Amino acid sequence: MAASPDGEPAPERPLHLDAAREEVLEHAARIVAAAWRSFDRFRPEEPPLDERVRRLLAEALPESATPVHEVLDDAARILDGSIAQARPRYFAFIGSSGLEIGTVGDLLAHTYDVNLAVDARAATQVERQAVRWVAELVGFPAGAGAFTSGGTVSNVTGLAAARERALPGSRHEGLAGRPVAVYCSTEVHYSVTRAVELLGIGSDRLRAIDTDGLRRMRADALDEAIAADRAAGVVPIAVVATGGTTLTGAVDPIGAIADVCARHGVWLHVDGAYGLPAAAVASRRAMFEGLERADSCSIDAHKWLYLPKACGVVLVRDADALTAAFAHEQGYLPHQRHELHAVDITLEYSRPFRALKLWLAFRVHGAAAFKAAIERNLAEADLLYRRAQAAEDFEVMEAPPQLSVVPIRHVPPGVRDPDAHNRALAEQIQADGRVYLASALIDGEVWLRPCFVNFRTTEEDVLAILEVARELGAQLARPGSAA
Ligand SMILES: Cc1ncc(COP(=O)(O)O)c(C=O)c1O
Repeated sequence: MAASPDGEPAPERPLHLDAAREEVLEHAARIVAAAWRSFDRFRPEEPPLDERVRRLLAEALPESATPVHEVLDDAARILDGSIAQARPRYFAFIGSSGLEIGTVGDLLAHTYDVNLAVDARAATQVERQAVRWVAELVGFPAGAGAFTSGGTVSNVTGLAAARERALPGSRHEGLAGRPVAVYCSTEVHYSVTRAVELLGIGSDRLRAIDTDGLRRMRADALDEAIAADRAAGVVPIAVVATGGTTLTGAVDPIGAIADVCARHGVWLHVDGAYGLPAAAVASRRAMFEGLERADSCSIDAHKWLYLPKACGVVLVRDADALTAAFAHEQGYLPHQRHELHAVDITLEYSRPFRALKLWLAFRVHGAAAFKAAIERNLAEADLLYRRAQAAEDFEVMEAPPQLSVVPIRHVPPGVRDPDAHNRALAEQIQADGRVYLASALIDGEVWLRPCFVNFRTTEEDVLAILEVARELGAQLARPGSAA
């Protein structure tokens, strides 16, 4: 590349920056540092979008250049006006918390823009090592695995391997009308529904098995369903156990389910996109007993391993199962060595170096710090549950949280319709901006559904949920208000 004397690229090069690269980087670093400082503590409100941002967002495609420093400042304004899951009082859905070293890892990985489709030398080795480390952390005997964009793609990947195992050749022939079934609990994440739709299995073939009083799949009902299907000539493709449901954090009894799968010779996939990191900590390890007997599992480092999106991992016991489902021989992709290309075991072709941020995070913090952070989130869930249980104006579920989702309901005296009240309250809480929560429908009832997966959250932040909900809820419940 032609370079000017000060080391900057020649100005005739298209797409060159209008300022020195180091200055641009320093400017971006200042924005990042300010963001990190602002995430250390909650902020008292979400500011409204400023006027400049509103104007910018209405602009057409710019034909000519704008100075890079000006544009970076605009990006900072836009980010400041966005819902950042990294903030300590973001409790909606299952957030990711933008661990600092992960941000740095993404910058480094994207700078080199390695493609992990085919052998990328050191980066490929790092991906394999990071796969081994995740497997070791949660106690799964992985023969292979890969980084994915998240639980959705990990679940499709595990189920594609299961389909090919159950019906060898089906990736080529299709299912050709053969009756098949996949089993999961009624609380399964809808990414599994989408996976069976995409794989041609069909969501009508997804058997939703009843749950017990703790909202966990009933292994006896699963056993009966598979036996009935087998007797009717239906081919069971896989059972999906959930290791931490999205709705309430229930962990299916993996050991009992593994027994059923072994008896019927069916593939067991554990969707641990959210909850599987809890298998690494002493207080929850027993809940995941049987994981070591599963055939595949999903785990999202961008959920409870605190990394920025997108960073999912799919693990399989038997490497051949992935190759059987995904490998291709293309003229432009020769297999020069006996080593497999990543693309032979994954769905995506162009794949960023997602593994780097997890590899860096494990090295910089050590696994012990991750376990401590997870235990802290579990203690926060417990704290909210106990405080809400003791309060007269809140309701909790009968059993304490299994993981870190804690559904609560505000039920002050005089509220005639708790569903309408909690629905309105969730909206008020989001509009208010001091804490960020979402509501969820549990057995037809509207609940507030905080989830603790952020390493920045403190006890003060946890208790703010009750304070804010109580204050806004009392206003809503006043005579004359809608609920
Ligand atoms: C249990 C479970 N599985 C799968 C997913 C999908 O993960 P992703 O959003 O990373 O695709 C989620 C997302 O919340 C989940 O909770």
